[in-house]
Amino acid sequence: MRQGTLASGPAGASVAGMTLTEILPSLRASLPLHLDAGVWPANARWGADGDLQVGGVSLAALAAEHGTPTYVVDEAGVRDRCRAYTAAFGPQAVAYTAKALLSRDIARWIAEQGLGLYAGSAGEIRIAELAGFDMARVTLYGSAKTPEDLDAAYAAGVGTIVVESLGEITRLAATAPDGQRVLLRVLAGPEPAGGHDRRFGVRVAGGEAAAAVARIAAQPRLRLAGLDCSLGHQLNRFSLYEREIGRLCEFAAAMSRAHNVELGQLNLGGGHAVAYRPAELDLALDAFAARMRTVLHLEADRHGLPTPALSVSPGRAVVARAGVTVYRVLAVTRTQSGERLVAVDGGMSDCPATALCGSRHSAVLIGRTGRAAGGPAVVVGRHNDADDVVVPDADLPADVHPGDLLAVAGTGAYHHARATNFHLVARPALLSAADGRARVLVRRESLDDLLARDLGR
Ligand SMILES: Cc1ncc(COP(=O)(O)O)c(C=O)c1O
Repeated sequence: MRQGTLASGPAGASVAGMTLTEILPSLRASLPLHLDAGVWPANARWGADGDLQVGGVSLAALAAEHGTPTYVVDEAGVRDRCRAYTAAFGPQAVAYTAKALLSRDIARWIAEQGLGLYAGSAGEIRIAELAGFDMARVTLYGSAKTPEDLDAAYAAGVGTIVVESLGEITRLAATAPDGQRVLLRVLAGPEPAGGHDRRFGVRVAGGEAAAAVARIAAQPRLRLAGLDCSLGHQLNRFSLYEREIGRLCEFAAAMSRAHNVELGQLNLGGGHAVAYRPAELDLALDAFAARMRTVLHLEADRHGLPTPALSVSPGRAVVARAGVTVYRVLAVTRTQSGERLVAVDGGMSDCPATALCGSRHSAVLIGRTGRAAGGPAVVVGRHNDADDVVVPDADLPADVHPGDLLAVAGTGAYHHARATNFHLVARPALLSAADGRARVLVRRESLDDLLARDLGR
């Protein structure tokens, strides 16, 4: 997003390719900056003098009270996304994948909106219990479930466990409660070119998936309810999912003939794309749901199967846009080639997605109105590492200086969840904002928290 580009109105008109704020930089002080509705939280608004508000709460005021960096989540934005998903797929058909972002309150919001939960660890199961989740709606999945994960699942009574390798079937059969419902994660598609498919699941090719079905069917304690898959991340193309539905129906029909098992549920995973930049697109949710239902019905029919119940387990697409991170600028410098570096008080310990996945977020100056024209800047972190980039290509006013605040959009998913203590830096607080009130969901880590784990003398 270009800072200084106007939301609407004559001042937004461009003259010879320049916006009025570029011709008259002083206008920045008096005009609201455009917030791209597809990138920033649904309930983000500009207040006076560059005061960016989320859920009616001033981010600058939050920074003053709680320090920086701080993650802020638009509660109503998360709840709205949950409702959009259940409206598109049906009330029982959506489980939120907890690893994208989880705290007790966030789990409670998700439960209150009627979603199930895909949990991948004893910790996520425990949070679901503490949040009052109906454990029948919780699914334990994971390529390498530890004994602690399984014990937690059994003790909590999770409704479903996803089997992801042949080897874990005997283990589950020996330890799971009688009648444990399971889904089988199947890799039905061809190996990607180069053969670097490190996803877990049992392969249809070579007969591994058929062997898994036979093995589960032979275990009276396990009840095979359907199939599960995960196709990747940031996916926008319906055709990927459509082809997978075709393959899974073909496999289900073969299993029905060979073992007389009815695979009544098909979980299509998540991976739904989210826009991080104005030019990018979210997965078109309603059209996607309608198309998947149609394709599933047609494919099931073609293979002589009753239509399985379709479900999805999105993570990122439920929470990404609802989150922003607020940083304080600590230093501004230029590289020898003239690149402007704006260094903030966080970085790859709280936003590893940029370094790990190349996510490209949007950033704006908040707390005051930039009076100078915008220009390119690299927002970098405090970790003394060349990969420590928060936003590789921000557009920030030329007068950004130490002490300023920046808000970075789209940090709801896989930021708080993946934060580390790299450089022995304490992890930020996670706050919610709604109806003009902020609440601390997860408190900021302290240096004492970190030192308490170090038992040296
Ligand atoms: C079954 C399943 N659903 C959903 C997800 C989450 O993906 P995303 O956050 O991209 O929706 C995963 C992630 O690995 C997954 O395994």
